[in-house]
Amino acid sequence: MVDIPCTDKELFLLKKIASAAEELSVEAYLIGGFVRDKIIGRPTKDADIVCMGDGIALAYKVAERFNPKPTVAFFKTFGTAQIKIKDFEIEFVGARKESYNYNSRKPEVMPGSLEDDQNRRDFTINALAISLNKENFGKLIDPFGGLLHIEQQNIQTPLDPLQTFSDDPLRMMRAIRFATQLGFTIHAETFQAIIDNARRIKIVSQERITDELNKIMLAPKPSIGLDLLSKSGLLNIIFPQMMTLHGAENVEGLGHKDNFYHTLQVIDNICETTDDLWLRWAALLHDIGKPATKRFEPGHGFTFHGHEVVGARMVPKIFTQLKLPLNEKMRFVQKLVELHLRPISLTKENITDSAIRRLLFDAGEDIEALMLLCNADITSKNKAKVKRYLQNFEMVRLRLQEVEASDHIRNWQPPVSGELIMQTFGLNPSREVGIIKDAIRNGILDGLIANTYEAAFNFMLEKGAELGLKPINAS
Ligand code: CTP
Repeated sequence: MVDIPCTDKELFLLKKIASAAEELSVEAYLIGGFVRDKIIGRPTKDADIVCMGDGIALAYKVAERFNPKPTVAFFKTFGTAQIKIKDFEIEFVGARKESYNYNSRKPEVMPGSLEDDQNRRDFTINALAISLNKENFGKLIDPFGGLLHIEQQNIQTPLDPLQTFSDDPLRMMRAIRFATQLGFTIHAETFQAIIDNARRIKIVSQERITDELNKIMLAPKPSIGLDLLSKSGLLNIIFPQMMTLHGAENVEGLGHKDNFYHTLQVIDNICETTDDLWLRWAALLHDIGKPATKRFEPGHGFTFHGHEVVGARMVPKIFTQLKLPLNEKMRFVQKLVELHLRPISLTKENITDSAIRRLLFDAGEDIEALMLLCNADITSKNKAKVKRYLQNFEMVRLRLQEVEASDHIRNWQPPVSGELIMQTFGLNPSREVGIIKDAIRNGILDGLIANTYEAAFNFMLEKGAELGLKPINAS
């Protein structure tokens, strides 16, 4: 049968493709990620078919065999076509040979043999093919030892890695991404070629680079990829701010930890509790303001005062540079970076209800995400210290629950609005309205007055009187 484990449905599809190819008298092969993932046992969502002929014609022939007939989406210039059967995508392309121009990722493409097509692929584990032809249906065609490399958990290029990466520098990011997703090791010669070609990443579009970076961030242990990006020299080019986190320093016996490796640990920690890409980005950026705020205070040690505020201010620039979305996702990351010290600071003092209320108010609906980030941020090597922190932190969690249950501060709006203040005192939008509004909000958060309309209304009248204002309906 087939040399890779397929479901009955997949086998049914592959047989349809095989019979369409036979009718057209073209050889066809299943190739690339589908074959790799089947062997590894990862879920697959799409399949690539390469044929010794016209990929678009084969796609049409395959489509005819289904009822209802799927639409064929094709790109004439690239000679590729796609059909979708239920939620399974199949892409067809004619086997090709490529020759690259030094300054571009766009190759000159010519028809080629299966061997040419396998040669031009990025890694041996991605160059495995399965025959869909009558004489050897299901046979694995593995010219570069891809199967062995899967067993050895090894990523290497089929040809000279310098050539493969120079042809398409995005592959350097892909090598690191696969190493991260699969937990594989990059072969030494292949990794050296990444170091040697790192500068060429500049010819790749930012969108593609960021797409790979996000895939690394979504892997179970992003630290693997981030460390490889750093060691290969790629990180210095694509995200230099991150590199400035490197280095532990020691002066007069007073030191600080290496913020790069601390950050990596925080990301891996948070990945155990969330799949949310943006919370993972918040972990990546939580200490990004540290290098800019680092000071040495003699007798005391290193400080990073205000790094959370500086870091939050850096977020929009980093998102712009990396072409990440400049929307509520960015604001979420920014908010978490800015607030990331708040819960932990509450473990160091007697926690007042007022401090808890303020945290609930500032974090709003993101309080849980913030707590996960803070929990992940506890990475000391001193086990007793970590234990104490985690215990204190549990206390903060309990207090947050208690205060929220009694005061409903999360997603809360003060009971007296700016509108009502203006109506009451006959004011236009002005400084006084802001002063009264802030006073009411702070009064409730500090527990000076109850979180009710009546208390807030009376407090508003009091504050207005202090400012020399009179309610317009008062007799
Ligand atoms: N490929 C390549 N060089 C690239 C991109 C892709 O050689 N820069 C080849 C590889 O053989 C790869 C196949 O094209 O297996 C399909 O590419 P793609 O769908 O991007 O990757 P997959 O390997 O399928 O993996 P994933 O879906 O996780 O990206």
